[in-house]
Amino acid sequence: MKIVLLGAPGAGKGTQADLIVKEYGIPHISTGEAFRSNITKGTEIGLFVKSYMEKGLLVPDEVTIEIVSMRLKEDDCKNGFMLDGFPRSIPQAQALDKATSLDAVINIDVSYDVIYKRLTGRRNCSCGAIYHVSTYTSNNCAKCGKELFIRDDDKEEPIKKRLEVYEKITQPLISYYEKKGLLKTIVSSDAISDTFLKVKSILDTLI
Ligand code: AP5
Ligand code: MG
Ligand code: ZN
Repeated sequence: MKIVLLGAPGAGKGTQADLIVKEYGIPHISTGEAFRSNITKGTEIGLFVKSYMEKGLLVPDEVTIEIVSMRLKEDDCKNGFMLDGFPRSIPQAQALDKATSLDAVINIDVSYDVIYKRLTGRRNCSCGAIYHVSTYTSNNCAKCGKELFIRDDDKEEPIKKRLEVYEKITQPLISYYEKKGLLKTIVSSDAISDTFLKVKSILDTLI
């Protein structure tokens, strides 16, 4: 299955992606994770994207589209993939349409006050694991033992900017995919496992 996870910053895309990988075994392509790993490794791309990400701005479309196009050409994407955080603008969606066809776009819808609590309490591990201080109090990852960190863009100013950018540039994708008949919206203010049941009920119809 070829799917996209759409949703505001902190809606729970990465969290659901992890559960989808476990259940369906499709590759998880997160542009945010790809950029963060480039920053950690100190690559040329990492140096370029850092200033955009810290401020909560989008990385320019050309760079993001190039990275995703290359990734989709890899062998493991032949039978399906899950995009998390891409596309995030109309030009990105148009580029994706040229590269492949999608089976569904899952839009995770959560109110801004829930989002704010999720982002300000989030803790991340470099292995990709995601936690929240309300449910996980250790400073080390349960999966790999490494020390957890707070993302540079999970501070008040970048959070504000990311939500603004989302409203202006990403939200129009909801009607873009609605018109194509691909949009499936789930409201996810309930627990992670209950949200996953909703996601699963959509994905099971695609198999
Ligand atoms: P990216 O890494 O994609 O960040 P984002 O879109 O802001 O989304 P987040 O990762 O912050 O949230 P999420 O929805 O994954 O939530 P999570 O599961 O972690 O992008 C970062 C930056 O990279 C962008 O700002 C931009 O600069 C750049 N970039 C990336 N893609 C780009 C693109 N296509 N074009 C241009 N630039 C791009 O959950 C959040 C918290 O909530 C966690 O603590 C989690 O434990 C908790 N939680 C999740 N679900 C629940 C639940 N149901 N109940 C209770 N708690 C929950
Ligand atoms: Mg994420
Ligand atoms: Zn870890």
